[in-house]
Amino acid sequence: MNVLRAQGLGKTYSSPGNIVYKALEDIDLTIEAGEFVGVMGPSGSGKTTLLNLLATIDRPTSGRIEINGADPAGLSDKKLALFRRRALGFVFQDFNLLDTLSIKENIILPLVLEGMAPNLIEQRLEPLVERLQIAGLLGKRPYEVSGGQKQRAAIARAFIHKPSLLLADELTGNLDSKSAKDVMDALQEMNEHFQATVLMVTHDPFSASYCRRIVFIKDGKLFSELRRGTSRQVFFQQILDALSVLGGNFDDVSFARA
Ligand SMILES: Nc1ncnc2c1ncn2[C@@H]1O[C@H](COP(=O)(O)OP(=O)(O)O)[C@@H](O)[C@H]1O
Ligand SMILES: [Mg+2]
Repeated sequence: MNVLRAQGLGKTYSSPGNIVYKALEDIDLTIEAGEFVGVMGPSGSGKTTLLNLLATIDRPTSGRIEINGADPAGLSDKKLALFRRRALGFVFQDFNLLDTLSIKENIILPLVLEGMAPNLIEQRLEPLVERLQIAGLLGKRPYEVSGGQKQRAAIARAFIHKPSLLLADELTGNLDSKSAKDVMDALQEMNEHFQATVLMVTHDPFSASYCRRIVFIKDGKLFSELRRGTSRQVFFQQILDALSVLGGNFDDVSFARA
């Protein structure tokens, strides 16, 4: 089953002098249920633009998107917000947890907003807490835990309402390598144990090596695609090779970890 289908997706920005800039052009992308897909490309290649279109945060200039067979383009802003809240889960580089709430309250917030009964919320929370190994954090505030722990809590929050698609933008961008590994292990658990469908944008070849498929974009267009075999270490090397073919400028790529 397709969770996401984008066809001929394009986005242009026009500046005050009416100079039209094509940030994204003719992107076709299909994601099946249970896939774990990464998007990589040099700085300015259109990764965030693509993610924002797929997240229905921004509307495409051309082409169409279907999420679970439905095109969000026709929805009013209010219906779109509801659609987004139910169908999608988000993990951000800077965690976006509320410091006034405990880690547990942060994680269950999407269900509380839906008005779900407390005992059902507990039933949803329990398996996530177990898999993500965050039982000891639940009573703490975000400022009392590490970056890696915050991001694991953010993953639990993004997935607790069982979205069709989990979207992540540079989720390891603010983390040291040990925490990045913990967070990617956690995301992999979501994918393998709970069949979460994941699409993540990353600069980092180490984080990308957890994906089963990587889509490379350059100058707003699809450039190439890589699928992982059995070994993550081999895939890591293939990603480095693909990035060197791709060229361009990568702000903060660390090439030394595997
Ligand atoms: N709101 C905007 N207005 C004008 N140009 C933009 C806007 N957002 C992004 N761009 C341009 O579109 C291109 C792609 O940007 P972006 O998607 O952020 O790339 P990436 O995330 O791969 O670094 C860049 O050249 C950027 O300057
Ligand atoms: Mg970006």
